[in-house]
Amino acid sequence: MRQDPNCSEFGKRWKSDSQQGRTLKSSELTFGSSVEVQGKLIQSPHKRQNVELAAENICVVGPCDVQAFPLKYKTHHPLDYLRQFPHVRCKTNSLGALLRLRSEATAAIHSFFKDNGYLHVHTPIITSNDCEGAGEIFQVEPANEEREPGENPHFFDVPAFLTVSGQLHLEVIAGAFSKVYTFGPTFRADNSQSRRHLAEFYMVEAELAFAESLQDIMQAMEDLFKKVTDAVLSSCPRDAELFHKHVAPGQEAKVERMLKNQFITMSYTEAIEILKRAHQEFIYKPEWGRDLQSEHERYLVQHCGEIPVFVFNYPYDLKPFYMRDNEDGAQHTVAAVDLLVPGVGELCGGSLREDRPDFLQSRLQRLGLEDTYQWYIDLRRFGSTPHGGFGMGFERYLRCILGVENIKDVIPFPRFSHSCIL
Ligand code: 4AD
Ligand code: MG
Repeated sequence: MRQDPNCSEFGKRWKSDSQQGRTLKSSELTFGSSVEVQGKLIQSPHKRQNVELAAENICVVGPCDVQAFPLKYKTHHPLDYLRQFPHVRCKTNSLGALLRLRSEATAAIHSFFKDNGYLHVHTPIITSNDCEGAGEIFQVEPANEEREPGENPHFFDVPAFLTVSGQLHLEVIAGAFSKVYTFGPTFRADNSQSRRHLAEFYMVEAELAFAESLQDIMQAMEDLFKKVTDAVLSSCPRDAELFHKHVAPGQEAKVERMLKNQFITMSYTEAIEILKRAHQEFIYKPEWGRDLQSEHERYLVQHCGEIPVFVFNYPYDLKPFYMRDNEDGAQHTVAAVDLLVPGVGELCGGSLREDRPDFLQSRLQRLGLEDTYQWYIDLRRFGSTPHGGFGMGFERYLRCILGVENIKDVIPFPRFSHSCIL
C-alpha cells in the first residue's frame, strides 16, 4: 500500500469521511492503538481543556490487540492490578501522572540544592564499604569469569557491593566543598515484602560541613520537604489532584497541614515514654534501647496531630559507627535524627558525624573495622570540620505527598525480594 506523504511510513492509513468517503471501522481504530492524527487545533467547548484537535486524517501507526491488552476502555484499574503489567501501566492516567510528578519532584530537588549553594556529586554505585553496617548488601562480581588457581577471587581485588548509601563518599567531598548532595539509586538486600521497602530505591543525601548541631540537619530536612512539595504541587496541580481525589481522598488537606505547621521535635527517650503511656497494644513492646518499629512511628505521628516529627538522640548501640557520641552516661546516645511523617513513618535518617579521630578509631576497633575504614579515620586527621547530613528516601517522599499506600506504585519498575520483572 502506498504511503501518504502526510502520514508516517509505518502502519495503514485511513482518511476521514469528508476526504475519502470511508468511515473508520471501530475494529481498525481500537483502544490502545498508536495513532498519528492531523487536523485543526480548535477552541474546546469542554471545561477542563482549552483546545482540542478536530481530526482530518487518522493513521493507525501501531494497532493494538485489544482482546489481549490488559487495560480496558473506560475502566478504572486499581494500582495493585496495574502492578502486574509494568510494561504497559505507564499508559494509564494514574501512572502517567505519577511519572510526571516523579520527574517534577526530581527537578525540584535539584533546584532546591542549587538555590541553597550545594554541589551535586555523583557518588559511586559500586563501592567497597557497607556504610550502614546492617549487612543488607548485594555483592558485585562478574557472572562468568574463570579465575586461575591462586588468582585473587574478586574482580576488584576486594569484595565490592552495590551502594547502600553515598554518605561516606559525600563526607569526603564535603571536606573540600562544604555543602554537597547526591541523588541516585541505592540498593538494599532487605528481604521484606513491606509497603515501604524496595531492593532498589532512590535516595537524596546531603552533607553539611560545619554543622555543629542536629538543629542544622533538621532545618535542612524540613526546608527540603516543604520547598520541594510546594514546587511539585504548583507545577503539576492536575496530576496531584488525580491522587488527592481518586487514590487517597483527604490527602490534600493532610499535605497542607504538613506544609503549614512547623515540624515537631522530641528525643528518643521522650518518644519511648509516650509509647509506654499509650493506651494501645503494640506487637513490639516499646523499651528504651530497642528500635522503633513502624507501629511505634505511626503512633508517634498520630500523637503529634499528624504533623511530621523529628526523633533525635537514639541509643548508641542501635546506630552505625559514624554517628557522633553524645557521651551522656548510662542511657548512652548518639546525635542521630529520624524524620517521621504521616502514612509512611521514617522518611529521613541523619546524624552528626563522629569528627573526633580518637572516638572514631576506638569505635571501629571494637567493631573490627579499623583497617577497612583507615581512610575514613584519616579524613579526621587531615583538616576535618564538625559535619553532619541526612538521607531521604525518594519513593517514601512520593508516597507521603501523594497518599499512595504501596511503595511499588511510585516507581516505574519496582525491585523487591522475589521480583525483578523486565
Ligand atoms: O536511614 P537510612 O538507612 O540512612 C542512611 O543510609 C544514611 N547513610 C543517610 C545519610 O545520612 N546520608 O536511609 C535513609 C532513608 C530512610 O529514611 C528511608 O526513607 C530510605 O532511605 N530507605 C528506603 N527506602 C525504600 N526502600 C528501602 N529498603 C529503604 N531503606 C531506606
Ligand atoms: Mg534509618
